[in-house]
Amino acid sequence: MDLQLEGKRVLVTGASKGIGLAVVRAFIAEGASVVATARRSTPELAATGAVFVPADLATADGPVKLVEAVLGQDPRLDALVNNAGGGDDRPDGMYEDPFSGDDDTWANVFALNLNAAVRTTRAALPALAEARGSVVNISSSSARAPHTAPLPYSAAKAALNAFTRGLAEATGRAGVRVNAVTPGATRTDLLVGPDGLVAGMAAHLGVDHAALVAGLPEQFGMVSGDLVDPGEIARAVVLLSSPAMPSAIGSNWTVDGGQLKSA
Ligand SMILES: NC(=O)c1ccc[n+]([C@@H]2O[C@H](COP(=O)([O-])OP(=O)(O)OC[C@H]3O[C@@H](n4cnc5c(N)ncnc54)[C@H](OP(=O)(O)O)[C@@H]3O)[C@@H](O)[C@H]2O)c1
Repeated sequence: MDLQLEGKRVLVTGASKGIGLAVVRAFIAEGASVVATARRSTPELAATGAVFVPADLATADGPVKLVEAVLGQDPRLDALVNNAGGGDDRPDGMYEDPFSGDDDTWANVFALNLNAAVRTTRAALPALAEARGSVVNISSSSARAPHTAPLPYSAAKAALNAFTRGLAEATGRAGVRVNAVTPGATRTDLLVGPDGLVAGMAAHLGVDHAALVAGLPEQFGMVSGDLVDPGEIARAVVLLSSPAMPSAIGSNWTVDGGQLKSA
């Protein structure tokens, strides 16, 4: 299948590892030219050959400065993937606190998981409209199963879903398609790394990290019996970004091993 991405210019956020790195690799495999961003690059990202532009997207002006730098190098932009996201530093006591953190925690988590996508997309929209391009936002199954992650994160991802659907309606007629991908529990540092969510849970519960990771698919009700591979999320992102999918507008594709149970 020709995804018509050869020579297209793509910006991927949160690209240094995990799902973002897999997305970079998938676009490059399709012949796209990728600009990758994170706060710091990694050897794995450098090895892809993507152009790296550093940015802290949780700051108010980080996204605008990023897009200015990217379009300053080349004014073309065909696709944007808002993938940067994650939790907070898990302040002590989070597990006993029904709010999973104070005002600062909520603000920080919303800044990265919602505001960064809003600001980056806003800055990139004129270039994307010129190219009749697309935006893919990376959401989370916790948006629709909020008890499965810290509450600020679940709430921010639910807001990202609403942003995705609403913006798709507003920009679709101008030719910019906006969609989301909803990963379930995916094998990346965010979830299973030494400083990830499961490590925090293991420390809190006083149980073995590796044993907790091994039990995750069953705990999350994943019919597949396995965590999602980041490459699989990347394939959904690339397909949604493709001009071969002109009717994919405002959709939200779940790739979660059967974790979410609603019809
Ligand atoms: N893994 C899962 O189970 C799962 C499930 C559902 C949804 N998701 C979502 O999938 C996306 C990718 O997650 P992942 O699991 O691949 O996470 P990850 O392995 O922790 O990677 C996160 C990426 O975001 C970048 N990043 C973090 N904070 C940033 C900031 N302030 N400014 C710019 N970049 C920043 C990181 O690089 P730097 O630290 O160098 O900045 C890194 O490249 C996130 O939106 C996450 O919410 C993940």
